[in-house]
Amino acid sequence: MKKILITRRLLKSCEVKAEKNFDSIFNSNDELYSQKKLVELSSGCDGILSSLTDKLDSDTINKLPETVKIISNFAVGFGNIDLDTAKKRGITVTNTPDVLTDATAEIGVLLILGACRRASEGIESARAGGWKWSADYLIGKQLTGTRLGILGMGRIGQKIAKVAKSLGMIIHYHNRSKLSSDKENGAVYHDNLKDLLTQSDVLSICCPASKETVDMINKETIEYLPQGAIVTNVARGDIVDDEALIDALNRRKVYAIGLDVYKNEPNLNPGYLNHKSAFILPHLGSATKETRTAMANLAIDNIDEFFKTGNCKNKVN
Ligand code: DGY
Repeated sequence: MKKILITRRLLKSCEVKAEKNFDSIFNSNDELYSQKKLVELSSGCDGILSSLTDKLDSDTINKLPETVKIISNFAVGFGNIDLDTAKKRGITVTNTPDVLTDATAEIGVLLILGACRRASEGIESARAGGWKWSADYLIGKQLTGTRLGILGMGRIGQKIAKVAKSLGMIIHYHNRSKLSSDKENGAVYHDNLKDLLTQSDVLSICCPASKETVDMINKETIEYLPQGAIVTNVARGDIVDDEALIDALNRRKVYAIGLDVYKNEPNLNPGYLNHKSAFILPHLGSATKETRTAMANLAIDNIDEFFKTGNCKNKVN
């Protein structure tokens, strides 16, 4: 049986499956392991089932024992893992695509709705009591007829586009390449970021974090957005320069923001915390029972497939 370090707790049924399939080392306290502890615990292991909270940078990967042959990330994103170093060390890295598309797109849509319809202020007022309905009380931006710019039209972007279209939004997108017309489903393609941003009354960031996308939304690119645009991010915090976005919000260049992901999670930039126009969530993208179960099962299956065949369809490096 292969020995696998499982760095975070999984839902019970998934831990039962892991126990059946592997000689598993569980994290019963769901402790956030330091890089040092993760390396120590992986001694003698054949693989690691990691999560997005594990920082598997170059230094950490270089310290892993030779026995480790796979890092199966319990996430679709893999910005927490240095893929090049893993490849050099002969370690396969896998992720969990598809199974979390719907749940994450639901949160993507919630961010759009929450930011446009002033949900943070509304929740606060409802809790405080004493609010007085009036014709102009907490009026927000209606989605019908509004242009939604999707940055990164992968599976999650396409699902958000589908729902947003049914709400009457007009979809624009930017991607490395133009999609086939059935996947585009009427959306307007822009081959560069600037053109997309100029058409985005609402922006939905859905692209993966990579060296190319770090701080893509910054002081300069924010200026391409229409005055009073809304910015939402369901992908990764690294794509946004926080200071630039907070500044744009403060000077009303940006009307509202909806965020589920941040740089340095869970310690988000304090500028977001008490801003009335910030609708913020604690990285809930895939947080449903169905999806977390499917993700963990896929992360386990990826390890099984790798050791059975020497390869894995969800290999990312
Ligand atoms: C992922 O899998 O990358 C998601 O962000 C998890 O919520």
